[in-house]
Amino acid sequence: MTTTENNKLVALVTGANRGIGLETSRQLAAKGVTVIMGGRNEASINQAAEGLRQEGLSVLPVVLDVTDDGQIEAVRRKLEGDFGRLDILINNAGLITGEIFFENSSAKVSREALRQTYEVNVISQVALTQALLPLLKAAPAARIVNLSSILGSLAINRDFEGQMATVKPLAYNSSKAALNMFTVHLAQELSQTSIKVNAAHPGWVKTDMGTDAAPMEIVDGARTSVELALLGEDGPTGQFIHLGDQLPW
Ligand SMILES: NC(=O)c1ccc[n+]([C@@H]2O[C@H](COP(=O)([O-])OP(=O)(O)OC[C@H]3O[C@@H](n4cnc5c(N)ncnc54)[C@H](OP(=O)(O)O)[C@@H]3O)[C@@H](O)[C@H]2O)c1
Repeated sequence: MTTTENNKLVALVTGANRGIGLETSRQLAAKGVTVIMGGRNEASINQAAEGLRQEGLSVLPVVLDVTDDGQIEAVRRKLEGDFGRLDILINNAGLITGEIFFENSSAKVSREALRQTYEVNVISQVALTQALLPLLKAAPAARIVNLSSILGSLAINRDFEGQMATVKPLAYNSSKAALNMFTVHLAQELSQTSIKVNAAHPGWVKTDMGTDAAPMEIVDGARTSVELALLGEDGPTGQFIHLGDQLPW
């Protein structure tokens, strides 16, 4: 996609106060995109945005707990009033609860962990996207990026001998599988429009969620989101992507 000084692309990144969301905001803004950074804690998102502003980047913080319909509506109104459209939505906010390397998590996961995880990782992504769809349709060629995970791949979870064989937190993995389903359904629904919808696996990235054990630096962990946010007309839709490669569903 192309940008001009007077008609810069506008992006909303959720969970932008830290981790991959913060770095995605930085990289998009460095490419000339006006980035609206959503965060559920006002002080934290303001501080994150101020840090990027001091780097000379064009970003704007908004308070957005993705589970809060009132805050979703307030952000929608702000985007409508300030820009009249949204070119890029990055559904980045995500949550993992409880123990990750937990054998037979399916036999033990609590109702509460399932509820909490689904609320943030699935239901809120759908609700936010629905609320912003009219603004995305008002953009010439909008891009929606859903931050999934290789742990949401049924094929990889079914490989009982594979590298991920012991990484089976049911709430998280199944929430990302559901997000993948949303990606495919929405991509099909929007296939006659110029909007592209894709699921991103960022890699195993050194963040609070990924921990220091992760092999990937945050700068690389944001690359898949940025690539999918700036896909050209000939780019894919309805795909599950990591650094340009398609992943198995
Ligand atoms: N790191 C990895 O290795 C990895 C691998 C695969 C996929 N992913 C996915 O990539 C995305 C970003 O992960 P990360 O590693 O950057 O995670 P992180 O460091 O734990 O950051 C998570 C972000 O989500 C925000 N968040 C959580 N609940 C929210 C809510 N209700 N409303 C708004 N924001 C909320 C957090 O805000 P607070 O600061 O307020 O908590 C934080 O900004 C997630 O969707 C994750 O599942 C990460």
